[in-house]
Amino acid sequence: MEKSIVDIVIGMQYGDEGKGKIANQMASSGEYDCVVRFNGGGNAGHTIYLNGEKIVTHLVPCGVLHGITSVIGNGCVINTKKLFEELEYLEGFGFDTSVLKIAENAHIITQEHIDEDSKDTKIGTTRTGNGPCYRDKVARTGIRAKDVPELQPYLTDMHSLIHSSSKKFLAEGAQGYWLDVDFGDYPYVTSSNTGVGAVLNNGFNHKQIRDVVGVIKCYSTYVGAKGYQQIHDDRFEKLREIGQEFGATTGRPRQIDWLNLNEVITACQMNGVTKLIVNKLDVLAQVENAWDWYEDGKLHFADDEESFVSCIANRIKCYIPDIDLEFQGQLH
Ligand code: IMP
Ligand code: MG
Repeated sequence: MEKSIVDIVIGMQYGDEGKGKIANQMASSGEYDCVVRFNGGGNAGHTIYLNGEKIVTHLVPCGVLHGITSVIGNGCVINTKKLFEELEYLEGFGFDTSVLKIAENAHIITQEHIDEDSKDTKIGTTRTGNGPCYRDKVARTGIRAKDVPELQPYLTDMHSLIHSSSKKFLAEGAQGYWLDVDFGDYPYVTSSNTGVGAVLNNGFNHKQIRDVVGVIKCYSTYVGAKGYQQIHDDRFEKLREIGQEFGATTGRPRQIDWLNLNEVITACQMNGVTKLIVNKLDVLAQVENAWDWYEDGKLHFADDEESFVSCIANRIKCYIPDIDLEFQGQLH
């Protein structure tokens, strides 16, 4: 039997790089049998434009929009009430949600988890109960999907799903690599691993990984309690308005800064990225004199879009010569 393979989409910054858009483009290609979410919970907000309609999902993988088997993997945490609300929301658009499956060993977010997370002032969490749920998972006091009666019809085990027949999987990440609990700016991180290792912890083995698609914006954003961007710059205000940089889950204004190339290169190296997609060039193009980026602690700038693109591409290729690069606008 031929083995299953998996292509992976991961954000290389702090979330909101446009992974939802890229995962959706890939899922619509007809190439995949199954889309898997491998980490995170309702803290994620994936914005997808489909047939002129804006669709925001939090937990359900984008395969549902294409009639493809869609799995909430065991690396995720689930708020059952919110999940059913999201399924109803998607059914309202006419999508068939019977393609959804849930790993029997995924963990459940309880009201206590949400109440506790809602008291957070230190990290600036999304208050969705994420951290307390992962804590209880590791403390071995958590509740799993297989313990919840309403979830019985959806349950799957990841071993038979992945290894009993040959399938093509798309693994869709949540958050971004720099929110990773181990490699991010701890404690200003989310409570799960967000990189390629997290995919393997959903039952894939290393030989099954084919492409790792990294996604970035051509500038940086961050939502949370940390003072991220220190200097005031009117161009950041413009970028926020034009790029609609407000949290998809919480509506909070995202802090804006220039692209940090060292961060992006490190994330590509740590995740074995084979292809990097640079998003939202059309947004940066609408702000005057904004072709700036940080590298080695210094601010660099290009005169125009063309030289920005070629500088960025050259710098990244210095470190990762065989990487495939693609530059895109916001909606296409
Ligand atoms: P939590 O994941 O809700 O515990 O929040 C921890 C940190 O991660 C906070 O700074 C959140 O704003 C951030 N965060 C969590 N999920 C996302 C996301 O999907 N996009 C961007 N930031 C996120
Ligand atoms: Mg998001």
